[in-house]
Amino acid sequence: MSTDQKSPDPGLFRTKSVEQSIRDTEEPEHALKKSLSAWDLTVFGVGVIIGTGIFVLTGKVAKENAGPATALAFIAAGIVCALAALCYAEFASTVPVAGSAYTFAYASLGELVAWIIGWDLVLEFALGTAVVAVGWSGYVRSLIDHAGWHLPRVFEGPDAPGGTFDVLAFLLVLVLTVILVVGMKLSARITAVVVAIKVTVVLIVIIAGLFFVVGSNYEPFIPPSEAPPGGISGWDAPLVQLLFGYEPTNFGVMGIFTAASVVFFAFIGFDVVATAAEETKRPQRDMPRGILGSLLICTVLYVAVSIVVTGMQHYSELSVSAPLADAFKAVGHPFYAGIISFGAAVGLTTVCLILLLGQTRVFFAMSRDGLLPRFFSVTHPKYRTPYRPTILLGVVIAVVAGFTSINELATLVNIGTLFAFVLVAIGVIVLRRTRPDLHRSFRTPWVPLLPIVSVAATVWLMLNLPGETWFRFAVWMLIGVAVYLLYGRSHSRLGKEGRDAKY
Ligand code: ALA
Repeated sequence: MSTDQKSPDPGLFRTKSVEQSIRDTEEPEHALKKSLSAWDLTVFGVGVIIGTGIFVLTGKVAKENAGPATALAFIAAGIVCALAALCYAEFASTVPVAGSAYTFAYASLGELVAWIIGWDLVLEFALGTAVVAVGWSGYVRSLIDHAGWHLPRVFEGPDAPGGTFDVLAFLLVLVLTVILVVGMKLSARITAVVVAIKVTVVLIVIIAGLFFVVGSNYEPFIPPSEAPPGGISGWDAPLVQLLFGYEPTNFGVMGIFTAASVVFFAFIGFDVVATAAEETKRPQRDMPRGILGSLLICTVLYVAVSIVVTGMQHYSELSVSAPLADAFKAVGHPFYAGIISFGAAVGLTTVCLILLLGQTRVFFAMSRDGLLPRFFSVTHPKYRTPYRPTILLGVVIAVVAGFTSINELATLVNIGTLFAFVLVAIGVIVLRRTRPDLHRSFRTPWVPLLPIVSVAATVWLMLNLPGETWFRFAVWMLIGVAVYLLYGRSHSRLGKEGRDAKY
């Protein structure tokens, strides 16, 4: 089926042609500035990928799920991401327009699936921004405390005892929103400096930490499985354990997969690189380089950090709020701990910034297609940025970040992202069949085998997430389908063109 015509099909499976997607970006009123290189993309990638995952979640999963084998959990999650990245890279180099998986799905799987994935990405990026903003706020508070000052308790956020409103997280999101409104280039420059600080801090952890590693901390490397201390009840347990009626356990081989489904959060972000395709000078060449390059760098760093940290302190003693800094405190080096806290606080800023950017670009693309009101896709006359969705979503996310606890949100972000991976992998196979003629400067190897393996691996990680996460995700997606049926379906630009073509 060729899709390079106005679609005569006004139904749920109408697809938007790749050529149409690219043409839309050329309408001056709705165009984004093309200013990014492969280097900018890699910096963006590393800037968003290294964050709360490695700085915070490493300690939690090592202590509760996997012990020293946390390094294996990072490898498992990294493999799932690498498979998905190979699919993302083909799509991003074939359909170089804003919107990431959403745009890809529109070109291959049809409007309903595209809408579902776009709605899913809004969840991923919005909640991801909020999660990281709250993590950032924790590190900043620890630095403020270090300097001898204290915030009033009520402003410490709902995760802290006696706290209600996380004023720091709220303010961070608002400031970043302003930076995004005034322009991409400014944020790319800030990002480059911050990424350098963050990577330096991670390298300090690895290199300085090596001197404090004690071999006995690695025994046993894979702790034997045991019943959870407080007991996991009902929907808290991973879905796979609920489905197959296992007794819920921590550690052991299954613990590595539970850990992998959580530390997966640490890899989120490489897919965001694809959302900037439209703003890339040579997307066909630079997109795959940016995506795969940043993913590889981060995987190596994560494995090294988790091996070093679980070697510095016995996993059962690791801190769950600031494990990298606290490991240095535990071996009597608070100076390093201070530097690491500072670098984490600075580094998490870019993570927030880029997640927010990805979020506004998806919203922008959906609005340009008429699935959300077109009001949101008019770019700023001077800055050429999609300022309307940026401001709207920035304010909403700031409020969510101020009032919400991070733990449950992180797993919800993970399930949303993994779901997008599944659809992208299927999309690669579909687009190869429906549009074999398209120029693909990057081709996923071994299609359809590799995308099928990618789907299987991704679904496996999803099954290791808690049952209640699945439930919340299902509710969000049902709301999305309702919004589509009530608004998007009748306002879709593609649908209107299809109807006009008939008369
Ligand atoms: N990968 C990002 C993080 O770890 C989202 O915070």
